Amino acid sequence: MERRAQDGMSMNGIRGLQSRMPPVRKRRKGRTSAGNGEGGSRAFAADTTVESAAGEADDATRNICNVSAANGDSPPLASSPPPASSPPPAPTPAARKVRELLEGQGGLGFGRYFTDHMLLMDYEEGAGWGEPRIVPYGPLLLDPAAKVFHYGQTVFEGMKAFKWKDGRARLFRPLDHVRRLNRSCARLCVPAVDEGCLLRALRRLVAADADWIPDAPGTSLYIRPFVVATETQLGVAPSRSYRFVVICSPVGAYYAEGVRPVAIYVETEHVRAVAGGVGDAKTAGNYAAGLKAQEAAARRGCAQVLWLDGVEREYVEEVGSMNAFFRFGDEVVTPPLGGSILAGGYPGFGNQSAPGLGSIRPRAPH
Ligand SMILES: Cc1ncc(COP(=O)(O)O)c(C=O)c1O
Repeated sequence: MERRAQDGMSMNGIRGLQSRMPPVRKRRKGRTSAGNGEGGSRAFAADTTVESAAGEADDATRNICNVSAANGDSPPLASSPPPASSPPPAPTPAARKVRELLEGQGGLGFGRYFTDHMLLMDYEEGAGWGEPRIVPYGPLLLDPAAKVFHYGQTVFEGMKAFKWKDGRARLFRPLDHVRRLNRSCARLCVPAVDEGCLLRALRRLVAADADWIPDAPGTSLYIRPFVVATETQLGVAPSRSYRFVVICSPVGAYYAEGVRPVAIYVETEHVRAVAGGVGDAKTAGNYAAGLKAQEAAARRGCAQVLWLDGVEREYVEEVGSMNAFFRFGDEVVTPPLGGSILAGGYPGFGNQSAPGLGSIRPRAPH
């Protein structure tokens, strides 16, 4: 049965959500933020370095880091502002390409174009993760017997870099994404990646492709790290080798409609995840499991699927590629993180503070 969220606030699931959520704490002033679905939210806090982000920085300072202030090994940003007296530099080929794509028919879209470079890092049992290396963007050569193709042992992340008004590139919440990646790795038996090493490598990659970062409102550089199991053996067991890859894509809005209300299809037949499964890991199977409902949603003119819980099919869990929260007067409530929901970087989840909305706590588990 089709149910649309925009006319369905009285339906059982959402009513149930309200009655089973704890109240939220009082609103705090001074910061604003907007979740945006796949891979990141808009920047809202002071900038900091990757090193402080990886350390004990509090949540007001750890969310954004400069790309250009990397360990001395990042190429300088071609897009850094020139000294006041010199004429503006000619746009680089990458900057010209991004401008052309932005102004072309269809604009940048989401995830259609890719930058000049990618990051690779390999793991071998016994040796651990090797050194990350930045190489020209291109196809991967994988053995058809690689375990990823057969048993789905793979995880990914989605994060963003923004071009700020001062012309510099900044990564948004990189530490949170690296940590979530490692949580997904743990669930899928993939060996953890060193946080500091990965943060430094991400900054080098984004610095190398900084001219690909669009600067029009609503645009960003989407960064997609992922790991695939590469051991060539048909047998269900954790792989003994992996390839870690990061690719980058200049993007516009995730939804063709832009940041406007989108029609949501409430899925009552299929479920995305159940507690105890892999719903709280960012792994390909969760998204493959959602395709059937996504098709049904599209047939009915809806942009996304609202998932209900896998047991009672009544309680709101999340929307296809984003977390869901609801505001009732002064209260903001979220579904509980019971193992079936991907804990988004959105600061309302996981007991963090929610800029502009107050402090949100998930309701108690079912
Ligand atoms: C299933 C799912 N839930 C939630 C999120 C929200 O995560 P984030 O806050 O990192 O965008 C995403 C996006 O990656 C997602 O795919």
